[in-house]
Amino acid sequence: MTPRRYDAVVTAHEKIAGDVALVSVAAPDLPAWQPGDHADLELSPGLVRQYSFCGTPGVPGVWTFAVRLRPGGTGGSQHVHTRLAVGDQVRVAGPKAMFPLADAPSYLLVAGGIGVTPILTMAEHLASRGKTFLLLYVGSTSARMPFLERVAALGESALVVDRSQTPGFTLPAIVERVPDTALVYACGPARMLDELRGLVGAERLRTESFASSPGVLSDAGGSFEVQFGIDGPVRQVPAGTPMLDVLLDAGADVMWSCREGTCGTCETTLLKGEADHRDDILTPDEKAAQNCVFPCVSRALSERLVVDLPLEG
Ligand code: FES
Repeated sequence: MTPRRYDAVVTAHEKIAGDVALVSVAAPDLPAWQPGDHADLELSPGLVRQYSFCGTPGVPGVWTFAVRLRPGGTGGSQHVHTRLAVGDQVRVAGPKAMFPLADAPSYLLVAGGIGVTPILTMAEHLASRGKTFLLLYVGSTSARMPFLERVAALGESALVVDRSQTPGFTLPAIVERVPDTALVYACGPARMLDELRGLVGAERLRTESFASSPGVLSDAGGSFEVQFGIDGPVRQVPAGTPMLDVLLDAGADVMWSCREGTCGTCETTLLKGEADHRDDILTPDEKAAQNCVFPCVSRALSERLVVDLPLEG
């Protein structure tokens, strides 16, 4: 389902841990969120970025995010750090359950760098319910590791590794400390996630995905039609042209960010037709259900897709 959008106001903006901006936005109708959920921030027209929540789950009205400055990034973090200010109006959408926490007898939670954002909210949620977990929080140096006080409040359930002070640290030693039945949630650099994949079976491992699968964009795909609502106008999606571009050219109100099928921002309700899902978001069952489509990468197996994006006027 396409997430609802809200007009919010920036109510807090502070720098923490050197290069992380802690930003809160508020609106009376912002719903509560759950650990692992994401939201879209429309920072300026056409500049939408997705961030994990890092405030208090279950509390409506205020959404808080931590954004690390990426000097070589694509503009989102620079905008948050240098232009966004208290009092600014921002459009937000969500929450989206991109990284949901499943029931398990115990958990290993692994956070690398700013990946601590969703992992910390999971740990605090589990702690509040008396669940058994071990949180491993790894960073290059403690000066650049946000939320160390919140992590410390978790007591012996949390282990902080400052790599500059702990050169002999290895992931296998940590994985061995948890039972085979523990679910493992990890968010961090690709190298860390790859190492975990070699240590933990796929059936137990849940990771945040920040990169599209190889080859997703290599097959541009043939042409098909897209219809804007059951009785709406029809447009042709030419071979090699992203469906998202056709939707935007027609004036549809659809937000986007990664254009790689990984962030979920462009999620669009599918009313009819069979999509050729090329995203890295939906599970096989969700793809088979054909209830939504990510038009930045996905195409069509049927001649026409009918999307729930009525055109105005
Ligand atoms: S824009 Fe990110 S999934 Fe489509």
